[in-house]
Amino acid sequence: MTLQIKTIEEYNTAYQKSVENPEGFWAEQAETFTWQKKWDKVLEWDFKKPDVKWFVGGTLNITENCLDRHLTTRGDQVAIIWEPNEPSQDFKTYTYKELHAEVCKCANALKAQGIGKGDRVCFYMPMVAELAIGVLACARIGAIHSVVFAGFSAQALADRVKDAQAKMIICSDFNSRGKKHIPVKQVVDEAIAMGCDSVEKVLVYKNGRNEVTWNDNLDIWWHDTVDSQSADCPAEPMDSEDILFILYTSGSTGKPKGVVHTCGGYMVYTCFSFKNVFQYDDGDIYWCTADIGWITGHSYIVYGPLLAGATTMMFEGVPTYPNSGRFWDICDKHKVNQFYTAPTAIRALMAKGDEWVSRYQLDSIKVLGSVGEPINIEAWNWYNKVVGKEKAPIVDTWWQTETGGIMISPLANITPLKPCYATLPLPGIQACLVDTEGNEIEGNNVEGLLCIKFPWPSMIRTTYGDHERCRQVYFSAFENKYFTGDGARRDENGMYRIIGRVDDVINVSGHRMGTAEVENAINEHSNVVESAVVGYPHDIKGQGIYAYVITNYPVADQDAFRKEIKDTVSREIGPIAKPDKIQIVSGLPKTRSGKIMRRILRKIASGDTSNLGDISTLLNPDIVQEVKDGAI
Ligand code: WTA
Repeated sequence: MTLQIKTIEEYNTAYQKSVENPEGFWAEQAETFTWQKKWDKVLEWDFKKPDVKWFVGGTLNITENCLDRHLTTRGDQVAIIWEPNEPSQDFKTYTYKELHAEVCKCANALKAQGIGKGDRVCFYMPMVAELAIGVLACARIGAIHSVVFAGFSAQALADRVKDAQAKMIICSDFNSRGKKHIPVKQVVDEAIAMGCDSVEKVLVYKNGRNEVTWNDNLDIWWHDTVDSQSADCPAEPMDSEDILFILYTSGSTGKPKGVVHTCGGYMVYTCFSFKNVFQYDDGDIYWCTADIGWITGHSYIVYGPLLAGATTMMFEGVPTYPNSGRFWDICDKHKVNQFYTAPTAIRALMAKGDEWVSRYQLDSIKVLGSVGEPINIEAWNWYNKVVGKEKAPIVDTWWQTETGGIMISPLANITPLKPCYATLPLPGIQACLVDTEGNEIEGNNVEGLLCIKFPWPSMIRTTYGDHERCRQVYFSAFENKYFTGDGARRDENGMYRIIGRVDDVINVSGHRMGTAEVENAINEHSNVVESAVVGYPHDIKGQGIYAYVITNYPVADQDAFRKEIKDTVSREIGPIAKPDKIQIVSGLPKTRSGKIMRRILRKIASGDTSNLGDISTLLNPDIVQEVKDGAI
C-alpha cells in the first residue's frame, strides 16, 4: 500500500527522508506497485540537458496497477461513477471488474485497427466514461494518448494532431454541456480537412441522436468496433521511461507544446500525492470536477484515484445546469467525501448566493480542494464556511501540467491551513525561491521566483518532438533548477503562497493561455496590423483577457469589429481564449529595441494608471496618454 502520512510529525519525517535519501524514499513507494520487471536504478538525472530517468530498467503497465491489481481485493467496488449532464438521466457506474473488461475491449479494438505501442492517439471527446476507458485502453497497449480539450477549435485540434502525428482520433458525435449541444464530430471533420494526413481512423462514440457526416474510409463507430471485442487483453510491457501521454499546454511563446509524461514515475507520484493530499480512505467517494482535457483530469480523475483503488466520479455537465445548485445536488446524491474544483467555479457559484448551497446537506464532505489558479480570500472563506461548514479542510493544491502531480499543498487534516496559501511542498519536492539572477533566497518572509531543485518522479521529460524547447523554457533560466514560471512568497513558517505567473502566460478561469498565442489569433483578422494581449483582474475568471489592437484602416462599427475579433479567436483557438475587452489603439508603447512594454499595458488594463514608472525611455512615449485615455 502507498504510504499514507497521518500526522504532521510523519510528514516532517517523510519530507526529511525524501530530501536526504530521495532514491530510498521513492524506491519504497515504487515497491508498493506491480512491476513486470523491477528497476535496476532508481534515478539518473542531469537538469542541464535535461535528462531525467526514474526507475531505470523497470518494466510495468500502469493499467495493471489501475485495474488488474484491484480485481481480487475490490473487483466489485465501484471504480467510476459517471453523472450525466441531464439530471433526469440515470447515472452509470463501473466496478473495477467492469472497467477492466471495458478497457480491455477497447484496447483490443484499437489493436484491431492497427494501433500499437508508441502510436499516438488523439482524443477530442466530452466527459463521457468512454473517454477514461479510451485513455486507459491506449495505456494498456502502449499507445500514447493526447487528449485535446473538446472546447478547442478545429484549428487548435488540427495543430495538436499534426504536431503529434496522431494515427487515430477518438471522438464522440455530439456533446451536451448545460444547454449547449456541440457537434464534436463535425469539428473533427473540419480539423481533418486542414491536412491531418497522419490520421488513418476516426473512432466515434455515439452520444447523440443526431446524424453526422460519415466518411467510410476513415470513420468507425465505437459500438461496432469495441463492443464485440474480447474482454481480455494482455498489458503491454512498458519501460518506466516509455511515454504514457502527451498533453498540450500554453507557454509564453509560440504554439502550445506537448508536455511528455512517462509511465513509471508518473504512476508512483500521482498515486502517492492523491492518497496523501486528499487523505482518501477506502469507501470514500471522490469527485474532481475538472475536464480530462486538462492535466487535473488526467492525474486526479483517472490515474491517481484508480491507482489508489478509489471511487472516482466523472461529471458530464456544468456547475450551473439546470441551476446553480447542481454541484451540491451531486455531492448529496452520491455522498461525495472529497470535492476538488477550481476557484473560478467557486467564485461563480458564490456570486449566485448562499441559498443555492444551503438547501443541500453536504454532510458527507470531508475535504475540499482547489486547483488551477490562486484562490482569493473571499472565495476561500466562502468555500470554507458555506460549503465546508468550517469542518472540511481546504487543500489549495499548486502544480502544473509539467509537474504531473500536486507539488505544494496541505495534506488534509494534517498540515495547518492558512487561507490562500498552498502551504508546504509534498515529500520529495525540493521547492525554492530565487531572485532574477538565480541566487537562491534563503530564510523566511521572502518572495521570489519559484523553482524546484531536485527531480521528482512525475516531472516533464521533454516537449514532444522538440527537446531543446523543453530545455530552454524550463531548465535554462536558472542553472540546475526547474523554473515554474510562477512567483511565490514564503511566510515566517516556511509556507508558500503562489502569487501568479511572472511570464507572459495568463490564467483565465483556471485555463492557461499564452498571450502570444492569443495575439497570433487576433492578427489573423484582415484589419489587424498588430496586437498586444495582457491579463487583468476579473471577479469571476481570476484574470480576463485585454487586447490592444492596431488596425490597418479606421473601423466604422467598433462593436461589429470586436465581434469579428472574438470570432477569429474562437476559430483559431476556441471560445475560452476570446478577449473580454478590446481597445483599438494607434500604436503600442515600445522600447527602443521594439519590444512591447507589457508592464505598462498591464497596469492600464487593470485600471491602475497612477504610477506607470519611467516612460521617457520609450520609443514612443506619447502613445501612453492615448492608450490611457481610451482604456475600457
Ligand atoms: C497556476 C493546473 C495558485 C499556476 C494544475 C501554474 C495555481 C499554472 C494553483 C499551471 C494554485 C495552479 N494556486 N496558482 N493552487 N494551481 N496554478 O498547467 O500559475 O493548467 O503555473 O496546471 O496554474 O496551470 P496548468
